[in-house]
Amino acid sequence: MASFFYTTLTLLFLPLLPLTKPYTVLIPDSGNQSALIDGPQTGLSMNKIGARTDGREQEAVYDIMRATGNDWATDIPDICRGRWHGIECMPDKDNVYHIVSLSFGALSDDTAFPTCDPTRSYISKSITKLPHIRTLFFYRCFSYNPQPIPSFLGQLGPSLQTLILRENGHVGPIPIELGNLTRLKVLDLHRNNLNGSIPFQLSGLTGLRSLDLSGNKLTGSIPSLSFPSLSVLDLSQNLLSGSIPSTIGSCDSLIKLDLSRNRLVGSIPETIGTLKELILVDLSYNRFSGPFPMSIRSLNSLQALILKGNPLWAKALASDEFDGMKSLMILVLSNMNLQGSIPESLGRLINLRVVYLDGNHLNGSIPINFKNLKNLGELKLNDNHLTGPVPFSRDMVWKMRRKLKLQDNSGLCYGVDSGFEGGSEESFDSAISPCNPPLAGSTKTTVHHLSTTLDAMTLPSTENKSSGADRQASCLQTAFVMFVLCLIL
Ligand SMILES: *[C@@H]1O[C@H](CO)[C@@H](O)[C@H](O)[C@H]1NC(C)=O
Ligand SMILES: *[C@@H]1O[C@H](CO)[C@@H](O)[C@H](O)[C@H]1NC(C)=O
Ligand SMILES: *[C@@H]1O[C@H](CO)[C@@H](O)[C@H](O)[C@H]1NC(C)=O
Ligand SMILES: *[C@@H]1O[C@H](CO)[C@@H](O)[C@H](O)[C@H]1NC(C)=O
Ligand SMILES: *[C@@H]1O[C@H](CO)[C@@H](O)[C@H](O)[C@H]1NC(C)=O
Repeated sequence: MASFFYTTLTLLFLPLLPLTKPYTVLIPDSGNQSALIDGPQTGLSMNKIGARTDGREQEAVYDIMRATGNDWATDIPDICRGRWHGIECMPDKDNVYHIVSLSFGALSDDTAFPTCDPTRSYISKSITKLPHIRTLFFYRCFSYNPQPIPSFLGQLGPSLQTLILRENGHVGPIPIELGNLTRLKVLDLHRNNLNGSIPFQLSGLTGLRSLDLSGNKLTGSIPSLSFPSLSVLDLSQNLLSGSIPSTIGSCDSLIKLDLSRNRLVGSIPETIGTLKELILVDLSYNRFSGPFPMSIRSLNSLQALILKGNPLWAKALASDEFDGMKSLMILVLSNMNLQGSIPESLGRLINLRVVYLDGNHLNGSIPINFKNLKNLGELKLNDNHLTGPVPFSRDMVWKMRRKLKLQDNSGLCYGVDSGFEGGSEESFDSAISPCNPPLAGSTKTTVHHLSTTLDAMTLPSTENKSSGADRQASCLQTAFVMFVLCLIL
């Protein structure tokens, strides 16, 4: 029942994506924001006359509540009667209620899960006395009382499907006992202080649909991946080394692959071409080397490919490099030491909205077919060795305005009536010159130099702000996570 609500709400929230945080889980299914109790439950968990909560489980919940600083809960005579946010129960055929879900933590102002006292909370071992528990959710619960993830959670193997321990300040390694949770579909340990390597035992969780270990201090290499149902793999913002295991090719339900901000090396395995569902691939800020595998061209669902900040890439792009990527909207290949010319095949990907190729060694001219990229809203080609005329229509130039970055190239220029004239206009500066400068252009030159200087002065400050592509990518990521949660929950 709950999953129905979560799915519905998740869908409703999709249009609000730019406003939401990158992850929104378990929106409670009630409009009453203050009360923890508001009448009988409906549907499956509806109270029937004479139905009672399993006494042993009730005692266990009291323990768990006490351990999170919610001592008041021990005054509740029957925790499955009445509608307690954060506690979900299901009756069995004998009308006995069992606890199936526990959630803690102030996710947002309008959730009413019991909060944790972050200075003294811990996870009570009594959790192992809940044989029917499917979902455990702790958010910002132990931040000021840092503790390891308890290994006894591994004893919930027969029932647990969702384990979410986000931003809890957990320290130490990921317990190998989590490998016992063989029915797990969602494992989310985002933003703790976990260290050590990813235990290979997790490879046994073959039913996983979402694995998020991002934002920790995990070291070592990525273990063999063989998760046929996995939609989301997020290991970003760790200290992982080694290369991407070629077994990634067996995760053929993968929609989002985020390995950004690690220390990964080697090239992208050819097996990535088998991941036909992929929508987002973010491998930015690693030490990957080029070239792209041939197979990457067959990823025709891919919407965002982000590889910026891989300076060891240092290869040329083949002329048909991205030919099959019909859905591609975001391509971010900044600062990769790319060589050679911009592939003409890019100009055929008419869905492109954001293209960053800045900070490379690209030479030659901008392919003429770039003028067909009518959806383009942001284009960065600055800091390369590009030459020749800019092929865009006047409309495109004016649409992109300041989101068109062309400065610091060897010799880009614009033709007449291309939309670049009037470079002294306050809100727009292309930082390039006309291809055939008029004679006696002394004033023009002054204007140009002045505007270049202004641009150079304003650039460094804008570069630290989250850029448009980052924002779009992060929105896209949010969309995926929510979309995937819809599939999972
Ligand atoms: C919310 O719950 C409180 C306490 O049970 C109740 O007094 C109030 O009327 C409820 N509000 C709504 C909007 O249901
Ligand atoms: C859990 O896993 C550990 C190590 O992987 C194993 O020794 C233990 O028997 C398992 N425990 C249970 C309750 O399954
Ligand atoms: C993990 O961090 C703890 C301190 O929180 C430290 O004592 C331990 O040695 C670290 N382990 C590894 C494998 O880095
Ligand atoms: C571009 O650079 C490559 C080397 O990176 C060189 O072989 C090629 O001739 C250059 N092309 C042009 C048009 O300058
Ligand atoms: C931009 O970020 C770098 C590195 O994080 C920092 O050193 C620099 O001071 C920042 N610049 C501005 C203008 O904030």
